[in-house]
Amino acid sequence: MFKNTNFTKILSMVDQVKLNLLKKNCILCTKCSLSKERTNVVFGRGNPKAKIFIIGEAPGQKEDEQGLAFVGRAGKMLDKSFLSVGIDTNKDCYISNIVKCRPPNNRKPKNIEVENCITWLSGQIELIDPKVIVLAGSTAVQSYLNINEPISKIRGKWINKGGIKYMPIFHPSYLLRNPSDEKGKPKWLTQQDLKKVKKELKSI
Ligand code: URA
Ligand code: SF4
Repeated sequence: MFKNTNFTKILSMVDQVKLNLLKKNCILCTKCSLSKERTNVVFGRGNPKAKIFIIGEAPGQKEDEQGLAFVGRAGKMLDKSFLSVGIDTNKDCYISNIVKCRPPNNRKPKNIEVENCITWLSGQIELIDPKVIVLAGSTAVQSYLNINEPISKIRGKWINKGGIKYMPIFHPSYLLRNPSDEKGKPKWLTQQDLKKVKKELKSI
């Protein structure tokens, strides 16, 4: 007979196969008009077995070109913020966005686009089964948790829902516009928020 650990391994292998299947379907998606102008569908990047899932807003130009999430300037800032607390985004996280195709001129995704796209994200989260979800920016918080409070009010506070702990943080583009490293400024605050994520990870 199989041991429990073998069952767990097989289940995790099945989830990886399902995730690849989900990606295959997602990259063919034409459910909304963002499909017309995209170069690539940006499904995600990182470790599909990670305990941390990061949700951003939408792909930008670099992401659209490369088909990978958070690989432009904002992505570099995101990576740096996580690394400053000892988290490697490619090894310790899986990263995706609310919508998988780039909105023209990097505008915010429309409600109809979010409604069409969110099932891909829900599928990813179900299969990756993270313990912690980091919501980067207000679009992620509003679209995924239906919480409309300003990000400056809710960042850094855990939200518990359905056995998952959610941590809202500033979007890395906001940190690019506010580059001061001073204590109390957005970059410093983000580091404090991510220290909480790191601590939570150690306790799992
Ligand atoms: N901004 C986002 O929200 N996501 C990306 O993938 C890139 C920039
Ligand atoms: Fe499909 Fe989402 Fe792309 Fe719209 S943004 S075409 S719903 S993958």
